[in-house]
Amino acid sequence: MVQGAVNWNTETTQEWLQNYVDDWVAFYRKHTADGEVASYIPILGEANPDHLGITIIGNDGMRVSSGDVGIPFTIQSISKVFSFIVACMDRGITYVLDRVDVEPTGEAFNSIMHLEMKQLKKPFNPLINAGAITVSSMLSGNTSDEKLMSIFDLMENMLGYRPALNVDVYESERDSSMRNRAIGYYLLETGFLESDLNITLETYFKQCSIEITVDDLARMGVVLANDGMDPESGEEIIPRQVARLAKALMLTCGMYDASGKFAAYVGIPAKSGVSGGIIALSPPRVRDEELPFINGCGIGVYGPALDDKGNSTAGIRLLRHIASQWDLSIF
Ligand code: DON
Repeated sequence: MVQGAVNWNTETTQEWLQNYVDDWVAFYRKHTADGEVASYIPILGEANPDHLGITIIGNDGMRVSSGDVGIPFTIQSISKVFSFIVACMDRGITYVLDRVDVEPTGEAFNSIMHLEMKQLKKPFNPLINAGAITVSSMLSGNTSDEKLMSIFDLMENMLGYRPALNVDVYESERDSSMRNRAIGYYLLETGFLESDLNITLETYFKQCSIEITVDDLARMGVVLANDGMDPESGEEIIPRQVARLAKALMLTCGMYDASGKFAAYVGIPAKSGVSGGIIALSPPRVRDEELPFINGCGIGVYGPALDDKGNSTAGIRLLRHIASQWDLSIF
């Protein structure tokens, strides 16, 4: 804690924060009506568009949860952050960055256009589909299940339990994957893939179908907020350099073609997924004021009604409000 700052982690202050967050969730829930649940993967269309929930976990263990927090959902594109981390831990940063770049595209997450038009030597970044599929091909193992093992291991280290695959979502994803197959064939033709195309795509579909909750996202977020160290045990789960690289990518590319606006108006690293999840984090900050979560925090949001970029409509507004109230921006 910064010297002279309020200790927010007491029963009274925690209740006070809880009341605020409850009010904000209730207020921003109306924005779920501005978006639509993703339906290009049929089973995702079954989510309740009215849901909105958030969990915030501080470095000091303080925790605030509000709204629809107990609902499991699939991690979708948020998995791209963790497959990238695993690939860097396994192969080394240089190896990975020789094969996938770190530039934002300003295009939709499943765009293939730049790859072809600009005759790139590597996909733009690991958080768009072309880059993520390339990263999935780099994971060690001869089958998709072997490749997934290292992602599950990393998540288990962060969460303290091993998350499960949602087989129905995986099958729905696999059976409606024309665009991703097109991207995969393009990557194969241009020599970007390190593994068999089908094994790579199966790995990608499965990693997107890992089931989590907002609590899990907040927990993984707080590890990233700490540059890869578990704040409870002090154990380094992700090497510092890899965690920092992942956060830079989240900030510049994590919200797809809305990443610039998110950085400008919210100002923290975040990554969204089409099931409505957002992982975000605030690193420790130094301010003269006494602010909640000043030592850093991880944030998990769930709101399956999405805007036209594929980000949670209510979730983004809620995050923007909290970031402004608590001065979370890193800038
Ligand atoms: O590639 C896909 O279509 C999905 N499984 C993941 C996409 C995703 O979450 C993009 N997010 N905004």
